[in-house]
Amino acid sequence: MLNDAYSADTFRTHAHQLVDLLSDYLQQTENRQLEKVIPYQSPDDSLAYWNDDFAQGPGDVDDFFRKVIKQSTHLHHPRYMGHQVCPPLPIAAMAGLLTGLLNNGMAVYEMGLVSNPLERIVSELLARRIGFDEKSSGLLTSGGTLANLTALLAARAAKAPGDVWQHGSQERLAVMVSAEAHYCIDRSARIMGFGEGGIIKIPVNAQFQMRTDLLEQYYQQATATGLTVIAVIASASSTSTGAYDNLEAVADFCDKHSLWLHIDGAHGGGVVFSDTYRHLVKGMDRANSVVIDWHKMLMTPALATSLIFRRNEDSFRTFHQQAQYLWASSSEDWFNSGKRTFECTKLMMSVKIYAILKAYGEAIFTENVDRLYDLARQFADRIRQHPQLQLAVSPQSNIVCFRYSNSASADLNQANSQIRQELLQEGRFYIVQTTLHGEVYLRVSLMNPLTTLDDLDDLLGAILAIVPVPRA
Ligand SMILES: Cc1ncc(COP(=O)(O)O)c(C=O)c1O
Repeated sequence: MLNDAYSADTFRTHAHQLVDLLSDYLQQTENRQLEKVIPYQSPDDSLAYWNDDFAQGPGDVDDFFRKVIKQSTHLHHPRYMGHQVCPPLPIAAMAGLLTGLLNNGMAVYEMGLVSNPLERIVSELLARRIGFDEKSSGLLTSGGTLANLTALLAARAAKAPGDVWQHGSQERLAVMVSAEAHYCIDRSARIMGFGEGGIIKIPVNAQFQMRTDLLEQYYQQATATGLTVIAVIASASSTSTGAYDNLEAVADFCDKHSLWLHIDGAHGGGVVFSDTYRHLVKGMDRANSVVIDWHKMLMTPALATSLIFRRNEDSFRTFHQQAQYLWASSSEDWFNSGKRTFECTKLMMSVKIYAILKAYGEAIFTENVDRLYDLARQFADRIRQHPQLQLAVSPQSNIVCFRYSNSASADLNQANSQIRQELLQEGRFYIVQTTLHGEVYLRVSLMNPLTTLDDLDDLLGAILAIVPVPRA
């Protein structure tokens, strides 16, 4: 069995079939021939389906692939506008197949002969785009969540009194972050033992940006209660509404108190590729560390996240450990990926990103960011014009939050939740919802550059068809 399972001929047969299947799939989704974006069924029904499939034992794997495609959420469908995960470029998905088969695990140079140098090239490209100089460096890691945790560990190593890595924390450490930041910041701080009191949440203004005018007051209150603040985390952009914090103001504050500035640009950091929108991250080059997800705005299959440090030496502060079986010395070499990442074995992410650059150059990132951000602004105009719809805030990124708002409706939260639920059941569009100031809003993340204004008009039509418009 093993010989056959590994044989080149077996691979060739199945792989050709899979490529044909995926090509047909792409054609159907992109041309909107596939009626549903999301073939939603309840978790229990889905489990029952797969239990039944599993009970049949080994069988036709091509048939299994077909079922997986059929039952998945279709990110390449132009009416996919749900969570912030991109429809990956086919060329990058192909690199996924290539790297899946090669499986060079990366922790040490010898297991990442190609992916370690490519990781350096890709990191340096992003560092230049951010505006960092040649003293910077970066790494790739599996997702924004892990990258943010890694950055905060570096912040602790740089700013906490004593050597926490060696002796544990003697102080009550804390970070300051906008109340709208992604939950992974809160989670990271708790993992690091800061507890709830060590996560100082700064309220936001009407645009859902951190109230930088409150930073000083919150800092003084924290220090007065015995906390040692080590870092401020700015969002670029936030998750719910896509709001960009004022990075210059946060950087000024960090300079004043010698705090670490970390910027979570997991979603919106991709604007560094856009001449039109890079003003949104003015001041990013003053950060100590920046996170940018390639699998959000930059068309790479998940997961692939860059963590870029303004100073190379900071990237080695995080995990200084000896592992004799992996590397002989503890020197700061760039080519042994495992010295700087939480992961030991790691996906060959850089190959996927590099494949995009090889095929299209950086211009494709520019085009994608510009198109999606432009479209969000056009969509917001449509919503503004509609008397029964209310925009939460003018979009800064490609995330648009709005709600059905008709004074005749008794419970708008219930009405909007119902709209979202019915859209999910229908499956012709995929959008999500969020809660802002205690109110339920519909939330659209424009992730697919093939989405058009006509698709969005149809979405508004579908929404208004769910909630009957009261007659005058
Ligand atoms: C601002 C922000 N930070 C971090 C994350 C987490 O990133 P990941 O899903 O890559 O772990 C997200 C995810 O949506 C995000 O929007």
